[in-house]
Amino acid sequence: MKALLTLDEQKQIVAKHAIDTLIKEGKIFSGMKIGLGTGSTAMPAVKRLAEYIQKGKLKNIAAVPSSFQTSIACEEFNIPIFSLSSGRINGELDLTIDGADEIDSKKNLIKGGGAALLREKIMAYNSKSFVIIGDESKQVKTLGTGFPLPIEIAPEARLSIMKKLESWGVSMVLRDGIRKKGPVVTDNGNFILDIKWPAQAKTNPSKFEKELNAIPGVIENGFFTENPPRVFIANAGGEVKEF
Ligand code: 5RP
Repeated sequence: MKALLTLDEQKQIVAKHAIDTLIKEGKIFSGMKIGLGTGSTAMPAVKRLAEYIQKGKLKNIAAVPSSFQTSIACEEFNIPIFSLSSGRINGELDLTIDGADEIDSKKNLIKGGGAALLREKIMAYNSKSFVIIGDESKQVKTLGTGFPLPIEIAPEARLSIMKKLESWGVSMVLRDGIRKKGPVVTDNGNFILDIKWPAQAKTNPSKFEKELNAIPGVIENGFFTENPPRVFIANAGGEVKEF
């Protein structure tokens, strides 16, 4: 009997499959402006893209990295990087490819497990097309049942935001650093709150996305409900399915 793939193996497979498919279909082509996500699924996709560039099959690619992790990977793989507001990119991407923490059947997402949700959302919402890649653990019925929703907040507003959220019945933790004392500080100098919210909000992520962002000091939250992505999911049997 064939051994089942681990989640890490699924991430490798789905990343390679998605890049190869998009190239074959002509959806990734020379001269494109591509947004690159953050995390352990996005990294093998960055590597696969670099292989096409190194072989000369893709030329003049302009990448926008969503985090320091991704910009370092691009530097290591010699993928030219630009900021979203540079003249070359001009505030708009052709394609963004990224991972996710949760994906529901309507293609709403939770992102931000890697604390890169702010730049990831700016890129996803300013991309002509958006592609999400994931292992089978990422597909869920209801967002937030397993993975808490990350919110990027201004450090100054930590307590005022927490009090407001508590009044809505939300429970939360301030995300702590690993091998760093104190809270996680994002690439943008902010903190992350990981929240669990009452059942009634779970049915309408789009409404909750806007309500959260209206709290003073909330910079962005990890619900992605606009620009529905093309989704590639790998399973333990090694198949990659699309929806
Ligand atoms: C980073 C993200 C990642 O896409 C998300 O956390 C998934 O990560 P991984 O691919 O490592 O499972 O949103 O902010």
